[in-house]
Amino acid sequence: MEKNIVVIEGDGIGPEVTRQAIKVLNAAAQLGGNEFNYKYCLMGADAIDKTGNPLPDETIEACLNSDAILFGAIGHPKYDNDPTAKVRPEQGLLKLRKSLQLFANIRPVSTYPALQHLSPLKSKNIENVDFVIFRELTGGIYFGKKELDADGNRASDDCVYSREEIERIAHLAFKQAQQRRHKLTLVDKANVLETSRLWRKVVQELATGYPDVKVDFLFVDNAAMQIILNPKQFDVILTENMFGDILSDEASVISGSLGLLPSASIGKGAALFEPIHGSYPQATGKDIANPLGSILSAAMLLDHFGLHAEATKVREAADWTLQNGFVTKDIDPINFYFTSTIGELIADYVGGKIPGDVHKDNIELRKSTII
Ligand code: IPM
Ligand code: MG
Repeated sequence: MEKNIVVIEGDGIGPEVTRQAIKVLNAAAQLGGNEFNYKYCLMGADAIDKTGNPLPDETIEACLNSDAILFGAIGHPKYDNDPTAKVRPEQGLLKLRKSLQLFANIRPVSTYPALQHLSPLKSKNIENVDFVIFRELTGGIYFGKKELDADGNRASDDCVYSREEIERIAHLAFKQAQQRRHKLTLVDKANVLETSRLWRKVVQELATGYPDVKVDFLFVDNAAMQIILNPKQFDVILTENMFGDILSDEASVISGSLGLLPSASIGKGAALFEPIHGSYPQATGKDIANPLGSILSAAMLLDHFGLHAEATKVREAADWTLQNGFVTKDIDPINFYFTSTIGELIADYVGGKIPGDVHKDNIELRKSTII
């Protein structure tokens, strides 16, 4: 197959981690004689610097005409502490989500035995944690009417959901639960919010169409606690936009490093794949960021293309690096490997170039391709 992928490297460490994912995608494409074409586009602070616009029209156009989008990271500290900034990098991502109707953000959370010591939670609580968050991405308080009174002393953000917006993501979450452990947890605040009561009603109605899925409901404050106390209880978590934003960052620390987690945002057309970590400005350009979040996002992209064997190979390669101590500085601050070295190793593994007995010394010298 031939596929067109838009690459948005974005801000901070976005470019350096995305480049590793591309190496891996190229190795994966070769396995089955597939061809991936890449078109590089701008978004975020990078786009503001170069064009004055966080999401140039050409980027939207290219994304609409693509099969998938691989995205790095967004954000720059110069905007974070300036509430008066009229143009912000994040506006680019929000507009892209809306323009492409990327209504479902899928964030899998699982733990790796090799990293258990890094998790802030006790080992016995995190063994075999494996759940996935379905976060609604184009509605709710993020996209409701925003107002600031003329005197600057009163502000509001509306939270609005329609039945249709809830149904389309709920169907995806139910179907995913059917492929997994048949459990779906709706997280809301139905004891306070009208929108949450609509979510509950719609999900209860849809549940009759999925009799093999056990549905339960949690208020978001309780869910935040349960994710820490007993994350193993979850299979598929379904929730609205802002609750999903907060809970997915919380859940990300379970695995031991935020740098590991991938995500997919899907909708009506092209899907977007991105690591859940941010732009990590302090690490920019140092070749120390963890590329696994981006590489595992590329694995989700391969799955999206139906290239499941290739996706499995990429995940296997990522596991292999973790098990053998080929890890970046966030995981081992003393004996760490560079971002680019991990990318090369994983690409080599996927391409079948890694022999059983790897000479670590050579890899430390960044000679992974000639071991
Ligand atoms: C995320 C991010 C974004 C969000 C920001 C960058 C707008 O935190 O993808 O989780 O809030 O959705
Ligand atoms: Mg977030």
